[in-house]
Amino acid sequence: MSNAGIDRISFYTPRYCLDLKLLAEAREVEWEKYSIGIGQDVMGLPPPDEDVVTMAASAAKPILDAVGAEDIELLLFATESGVDQSKSAGMFFHGLLGLPSRCRVVEMKQACYAGTLALRLAALMVADSPGKKALVLCSDIARYDLGSPGEPTQGCGAIAMLVSADPSILVLDDECGVHAEDVMDFWRPNYRDEALVDGKYSTRIYQACLREAWSQYAALSGRTVSDFAHFCYHIPFTNMALKAHDRLLKGAGVTEGRRELVEQAVGQSLGYNRLTGNTYTASLYEGLTCLLDTSAEPLDGKRLGLFSYGSGAVGEFFSGTVVPGYRRSLFGDAHRSLLDTRTALTVAEYEDIFNLCLPSDGWDYSFSQYRTGPFRLSGVKEHKRLYEVAAL
Ligand code: COA
Repeated sequence: MSNAGIDRISFYTPRYCLDLKLLAEAREVEWEKYSIGIGQDVMGLPPPDEDVVTMAASAAKPILDAVGAEDIELLLFATESGVDQSKSAGMFFHGLLGLPSRCRVVEMKQACYAGTLALRLAALMVADSPGKKALVLCSDIARYDLGSPGEPTQGCGAIAMLVSADPSILVLDDECGVHAEDVMDFWRPNYRDEALVDGKYSTRIYQACLREAWSQYAALSGRTVSDFAHFCYHIPFTNMALKAHDRLLKGAGVTEGRRELVEQAVGQSLGYNRLTGNTYTASLYEGLTCLLDTSAEPLDGKRLGLFSYGSGAVGEFFSGTVVPGYRRSLFGDAHRSLLDTRTALTVAEYEDIFNLCLPSDGWDYSFSQYRTGPFRLSGVKEHKRLYEVAAL
């Protein structure tokens, strides 16, 4: 049995956003559909000089500044918004952050699920190599067609997790429940920038995967819903997480007071996602970060249940115990400040940025400097992406 898990966790979201009240007005939809029906308030937006590499680098920088990069021997970059068909987004990251040359790097993809496999593989590696560390990056930009049902759930952000054999934040339990099934609920063909989705079907598959993964996990671990202080879910939109937990409780035979129980178990993890929108691979871990950062109740020694879902589809239920003293290792103030200091755009500005796609004609381009984090994509030259430290 290993003690491996999350030693540090840091979140980044770009510096622009759109208040969904404005989007509701523009699309002639009642604002309550977004805020109550879907459970989203604001959508995070990346400027043209930000992508999954710069977001991941900005998420990871505070961790590397705090603990250094010397012992990192594995870098797993989970994304479904990759920037190259061959070179891993992780190699661009490796160069930007100056990681050691003795560090394996690979990009992983299975819709929003890949970060969870990355975390488990990283935990296995560090448990086997005491003193060595792994960096797991989850970074994504959620894009749907303008005016489509998915539009108000768009978002962007990245999570960086340092994984060690003796972690400061969350020790992962060995047991997990997994359910995989080949379905077409959400996908993005190589020729499209926007995802295609059978939205209602995807919510049903999410629930089916949760049911199967949970029952497997419960049988393996002998735990019941009352063994967990909180639950964190993959959050395509926050009401999905609430509905999923309601179904879990119903399946476990809870008949009364479910609304309050759901709010108590899941509510505290949703605040950041309401303000960023869907961050795909990062969304489960954004929820975990929000819970750890904002819970007034100390979570030391408490067990958390986590459900990861990636369309297509794979679901995994797993768990972990919060390490006593975890608060000393969080970056909560920085996260709050990021969310509080974004530039709010109009719908016209949002649509302009949305339509500004990276050129694919092979010509050389350089981008104007927008508000970014510490790193930016400065342009493209001879088909090569050029990254740089931003002049902040
Ligand atoms: N006030 C309050 N609630 C309202 C409302 C209003 N004025 N108008 C609508 N609603 C509610 C609906 O009743 C519905 O609630 P319910 O799900 O509890 O029934 C909810 O808002 C959504 O509205 P609905 O019309 O059913 O959905 P939609 O066609 O706009 O699409 C999704 C919703 C989730 C399918 C769509 O956002 C989507 O495709 N998202 C991308 C895929 C995704 O996130 N999948 C999840 C699994 S990964």
